[in-house]
Amino acid sequence: MKELAAIILAAGKGTRMKSKMPKVLHRVAGFPMLYYPLSVLKGLKAKRVIVVVGHGAEEVRAAFADEKVEFVTQSEQLGTGHAVMTAVKGLAGFRGDILILSGDVPLITKETIKALCAIHRGASLKKRPALSMVTALLEDTKGYGRVVRDEHGAVVRVVEDRDCSPLQREINEVNAGIYLVSSKFLLGNIGRVNNRNAQGEYYLPDLIEIAVKSGEKVSALTHLYPEEVFGINNRVELARADKIMRKRTAEALMLNGVTIIDPDSTYIDAQVKAGMDTVIYPGVHLIGPTVIGEDCVIEENVRIEDSSIGDNSTIKSHSIIEDSEAGKEVSIGPFARLRPGSVIRDRARIGNFVEVKKTVVGKGSKANHLTYLGDSVIGEGVNIGAGTITCNYDGFSKHTTTIEDGAFIGSDTQLVAPVRVGKGAYVGSGTTVTRDVPPDSLVTTRAEERVIEGWAERKRRKGRKKGH
Ligand code: UD1
Ligand code: CA
Repeated sequence: MKELAAIILAAGKGTRMKSKMPKVLHRVAGFPMLYYPLSVLKGLKAKRVIVVVGHGAEEVRAAFADEKVEFVTQSEQLGTGHAVMTAVKGLAGFRGDILILSGDVPLITKETIKALCAIHRGASLKKRPALSMVTALLEDTKGYGRVVRDEHGAVVRVVEDRDCSPLQREINEVNAGIYLVSSKFLLGNIGRVNNRNAQGEYYLPDLIEIAVKSGEKVSALTHLYPEEVFGINNRVELARADKIMRKRTAEALMLNGVTIIDPDSTYIDAQVKAGMDTVIYPGVHLIGPTVIGEDCVIEENVRIEDSSIGDNSTIKSHSIIEDSEAGKEVSIGPFARLRPGSVIRDRARIGNFVEVKKTVVGKGSKANHLTYLGDSVIGEGVNIGAGTITCNYDGFSKHTTTIEDGAFIGSDTQLVAPVRVGKGAYVGSGTTVTRDVPPDSLVTTRAEERVIEGWAERKRRKGRKKGH
């Protein structure tokens, strides 16, 4: 098998996006566009991956700093041909095939690249192509380069939209901007691409005509699902690509046994995983690398971001979970909010209007109503009554509240941190706890109850005399 290197073109400004941000950082299904061609390459064992950056180079490098890729800067964006000239400088001596992808074509799949490799490297071919490309038949061809073929059907060149004659503009086969080129041909000929055209740019597709004129063979793979080679140049196209990517992710989950009641109104990012027999209701947003277990129910309008939920758990309507972890058989919501750093252990319950932040809630513990738990460590089997507040902030810094196993916190309690409630202790309703509570004790700070009989009736009588 020939070795493979890849060049991804990502230096352009993306003028048509009308954005301060480089185009390839705009998000499709939760991830910057450039993430997708890079993940396709991971499955293809490319020996080297060179990303051409230019506009917003520092931002793009920083966003992909953890990837095993080489960045090359094209300081002036003089066209796709010039971008490749810049990239191949680092490929001198490479023997094999060079795959060229665009950072703005995120819907491309590994299967298509494999098919392109097959037509390029086909063992039974008498003459192997110097260059193979992907084309697509589109209804709306605006902005794409048109593929011109000769009377035998062979590709002879690509003409950019702006350079098309009226007749060429009618051609509905377009260049997808995805090429596989033998290193020998690319390294030897990229320097021949010039900028004599309507935009004064070095057009990479001119390499096709150069190949044909030098007697080299050019192959074209015409894609049957043109949406895959759909390039993103503006925000209308961005929204369209986002929808297609989300649909793909949802369909993959459904085929793996997840019920998604209305995929059209469910927003699932490309990296989300969910287990068998989980049911996802409409209006749910699953964001980032979120993982949902098996047999879970995620009710309507829930948002779960960068979090994991264990098997057999229910997340009830309108709950928001961010950067947190829930175990098995937990119940959260409706209207609950887990802020970053919350850990809800197995069988625990977090009810309506409960906010949890940087807090561990132990196995089987419950905070069912109207509560704030921040910077806390809560043991197993603890009951937190309605309206409990951990007062974690003293105006200067945050402090920890610790509630040990089996403790009972009565309703309307304030726990002024740092404070500890010992194992099995009782906190009476309405208590303000400011000192540690020993295990198995009762603490209350309630003022004694006073009943004044007949007081209300006397007050009403006085009022009537004054004529109220
Ligand atoms: C390009 C093709 C067109 C094809 C279409 C498919 C050219 C001249 N035209 O047009 O035939 O139908 O893609 O989507 O190649 N880039 C650089 N440096 C530059 C210019 C561009 O890195 O100097 C990058 C861009 O960031 C982008 C990619 O190359 O990721 C394509 O550039 P773009 O300007 O979007 O080309 P199109 O007009 O879409
Ligand atoms: Ca483009």
